[in-house]
Amino acid sequence: MELVIEGNALIDKEIVKCCIGVEEGKIKAIKKILKGEKHHDFGDKLILPGAIDAHVHFRDPGLTHKEDFGTGTTSCAFGGVTCALDMPNTLPPVTNILALEEKARNADMKAFVDFGLFAGVSLNCDIEALAKSAVGYKIYLATTTGDMLIDDYKALEGIFKDINETEKPVSVHCEDEALMDRTLNPDSLRKYLKSRPNICEESGIKKVLNNRGNAKAHICHVSTSEGARLIENESITSEVTPHHLFLNSNSDIGALGKVNPPLRESKDQEALWNALSQGTIDIMASDHAPHTLDEKEQFETAAPGIPGVETMVPLMLYMVKQNKFQLERLVDAACKRPGEIFHLKKGRLAPGYDADIIMVDMRSEAEIKGKNLHSKCGWTPFEGFSAIFPRFTFVRGEVVIEDWELTGERGYGKMVIGNHMGMENKE
Ligand code: DOR
Ligand code: ZN
Ligand code: ZN
Repeated sequence: MELVIEGNALIDKEIVKCCIGVEEGKIKAIKKILKGEKHHDFGDKLILPGAIDAHVHFRDPGLTHKEDFGTGTTSCAFGGVTCALDMPNTLPPVTNILALEEKARNADMKAFVDFGLFAGVSLNCDIEALAKSAVGYKIYLATTTGDMLIDDYKALEGIFKDINETEKPVSVHCEDEALMDRTLNPDSLRKYLKSRPNICEESGIKKVLNNRGNAKAHICHVSTSEGARLIENESITSEVTPHHLFLNSNSDIGALGKVNPPLRESKDQEALWNALSQGTIDIMASDHAPHTLDEKEQFETAAPGIPGVETMVPLMLYMVKQNKFQLERLVDAACKRPGEIFHLKKGRLAPGYDADIIMVDMRSEAEIKGKNLHSKCGWTPFEGFSAIFPRFTFVRGEVVIEDWELTGERGYGKMVIGNHMGMENKE
């Protein structure tokens, strides 16, 4: 083997002491003993698949004072995310193939880890043409950063039909604009929640359930107990963010916690933790949405969005250490299920899969500090939280993080588009 990684690996649902053999960037074999030209013996340390973050905003092109593909994917590497799927609300918006390919070229030169790009859906975009390079589609049912609102609900059914032809998944931001209270001018997290109440999400999800046809609809950032209940028995996939799990509208973080959908209440948090544990909510995704501190200064005018790609896995690993969350379910939700939903040969320690691997020393607790993170925005709403950062990160068999230091190369990260339309990944 070109490379062997040895340690206590989570293979499917069990931790086994084994060797993972890697050839040409892919996992070739998993055995008790393997010989390699390069051999990392990690002893009793934990070996897990790298995470796939199916929802990030890397702001590149057009908003690179907040983040760019270099800083965004550096954050990924430090946080154990080996592939990130980037949202289309950049400038120009990615709603046509030219913008999509331009973004791909730019990202390809800067990325430290692998990435995929979403195509944004606007009322007159060419859905079929976008399929060539997009990992999936994104629909916004509410106004937010960028300009991609689909509030003509009558058009939804046709849009889902067209997307279904491509066999790609479609992620939907579900908040019903009509039910927001525009008379309030919120100056606190509590009031912000009042202006975008839980019913907005419930109504938004219903619109997706009623119009999706056979399309592979995926509900972004479920944030309410009502939303979680609504999808409980539906064959629809969904995600939850770390900020909706760990924070609520009573958190003392002011405008840093302003985000869409808003931070909710502790009863919602509880419902989200349960739904994630049970798999009603399939995956975790950070919705990493960095804004500068200047843009977060004044609540009323602050830009909505919270960074989180670097802290998502570390926060959850600490929960695992505290016996508050199951390791198998974490790996399922952060690695395996996003791989399945977006048709990637990633997110599992199994032959044929990309050798995207992290090594974790569960003894190495750290306190999260914004100034130590690698996003351009330089802050985190999780300041002071305990976390466990991966010690090594491998992307397709190459070391990107070694002993908590960046050794990866800018431009090494490659674009993924998913093997849709029955196209099997050739091995
Ligand atoms: O708070 C948010 N910020 N919600 C979104 O849907 C978009 C995001 C952003 O891009 O800033
Ligand atoms: Zn969203
Ligand atoms: Zn988002």
